[in-house]
Amino acid sequence: MKNKTALVTGAGKGLGFEVVKLLSSSGVQVFLTARDLKKAEVAYNSLGDFKKNIRLVELDVANPGSVKAAFEKINSEIDSLDILINNAGINYDTWQKAINADIEVECKVTMETNFYGPWRMIKTFLPLLLKSTQGRIVNVSSEAGSIAGLTGGIPAYATSKAALNALTKTVAGELKTNKILVNSVCPGWCATEMGGAGGRSPVLGAKSILWAAELPDDGPTGGFFRDGKSLNW
Ligand SMILES: NC(=O)c1ccc[n+]([C@@H]2O[C@H](COP(=O)([O-])OP(=O)(O)OC[C@H]3O[C@@H](n4cnc5c(N)ncnc54)[C@H](OP(=O)(O)O)[C@@H]3O)[C@@H](O)[C@H]2O)c1
Repeated sequence: MKNKTALVTGAGKGLGFEVVKLLSSSGVQVFLTARDLKKAEVAYNSLGDFKKNIRLVELDVANPGSVKAAFEKINSEIDSLDILINNAGINYDTWQKAINADIEVECKVTMETNFYGPWRMIKTFLPLLLKSTQGRIVNVSSEAGSIAGLTGGIPAYATSKAALNALTKTVAGELKTNKILVNSVCPGWCATEMGGAGGRSPVLGAKSILWAAELPDDGPTGGFFRDGKSLNW
């Protein structure tokens, strides 16, 4: 992984931060991006030796101007981007159902971050990804968005992740000739702010995500995985 470049969204805490730690410890130059740079700085300052491989960049995936500004900054610092990890995500809305959901605010805000955010990131950073010879895009999804398993509940989150999975397949198909591998990954239930207590270690979730970032050139594209094993769409 040495000499590679990577960008992780929503990386100031949780799984994104764990992914940054693992990538930087294997020698990858990582852009730790977060919508609140002050919070991210605190996380960054807790790291030891591997800080040298990490650069902090402010990036709110729900804000087109922020994504564009981050692209301009990063584009001026690197020639190509090897790995884009769309990790930022919100709103595990256990308190509502599709039949009574707050569509106009809550569901739209969730879509903006969980679905349009990754789409916006892919579109904006594509010029840098296309300059890599080993481009990888990882959309951090959830089995909660598996259409095969939907039975009702968490409507904003589940539909946003199902839409993200559709985006994964669509973009994977469009980038096949460019040899960029695009996959959705479920990290599993992990003990983060979103996951709450009781889930597995965030390091295991991060490893599940990294599996798709480290795929060999003949690896799968357009798939949905957890811990390297296929999940049902
Ligand atoms: N934990 C689980 O059990 C689990 C299971 C399946 C899938 N996932 C997925 O894994 C990913 C990471 O989740 P997590 O468990 O690490 O959750 P988390 O601890 O709540 O972290 C989410 C991260 O996303 C960031 N974020 C939210 N909105 C953003 C925006 N508009 N722009 C940029 N960053 C934004 C947050 O930043 P702030 O600090 O500024 O809020 C935070 O850094 C998510 O996509 C989630 O859906 C998690």
